[in-house]
Amino acid sequence: MPMDYYALVLRWAHVLAAIVAVGGLFFARFGLLPALQTFDEATRNRIHDAIRSKWLPWVIGAISMLLVTGLLNFFLFNARVKLEGWNDGFWMKDTAYHALFGVKFLLAMAVFYFASALVGRGESTQWIRNNRAKWLSITLTMAVTAVLLSGWMRQLHTGPNSPQEHSSGVQIEDIETIENDNRYKGDEAGSSFREDEKASPKPE
Ligand code: HEM
Repeated sequence: MPMDYYALVLRWAHVLAAIVAVGGLFFARFGLLPALQTFDEATRNRIHDAIRSKWLPWVIGAISMLLVTGLLNFFLFNARVKLEGWNDGFWMKDTAYHALFGVKFLLAMAVFYFASALVGRGESTQWIRNNRAKWLSITLTMAVTAVLLSGWMRQLHTGPNSPQEHSSGVQIEDIETIENDNRYKGDEAGSSFREDEKASPKPE
């Protein structure tokens, strides 16, 4: 199976940016915020100001990286699904990949807005910083949900790892069937199990 280095670099960049974003939110909520409560308000504000100038470029960088690599990844994957005619063109719809992506995209947009506001200083977003604990918790929950949805989306096209179970959910009893059913033949990794779906369409 040939390695798709372009896709690999996209995936690395996307996952690393997600680690920076989610890790930053987690640390801010459960490390920084409780620690700052032990200082008086004037000191807290000085620390927040000092953090802003150092952390803001990372937030902007992570958001840009997630957007660019995420959109590229999505369009490239869409193009492949169309070109190869997965499940007669119904794969995106039948697996709910499109819907999951839609929900994830909206969550990501909300995360970007709140993450920027939490570190920013615009007057229009002051209401968010007035209750940092609440909005950090909500933003973190949305970001973690985005990670969970991403893993789900990925599993939809990588299929199961277990050799005991066919991707359609059918149990495979004998080893010969497993060998014949092996979807990693030549360079068609991950695609022959979709051929089976085409050959025996699911009942409506
Ligand atoms: C809060 C922001 C985001 C987080 C935390 C996040 C996290 C992740 C993670 C961890 C993965 C890898 C999943 C895996 O391999 O198991 C992933 C994949 C992906 N992300 Fe994001 N992401 C974010 C924003 C975005 C945005 C804005 C887009 C698109 C505009 C996007 C599109 C994608 C796509 C298409 C995949 C590939 C899913 C697949 O394998 O089918 N992500 N994301």
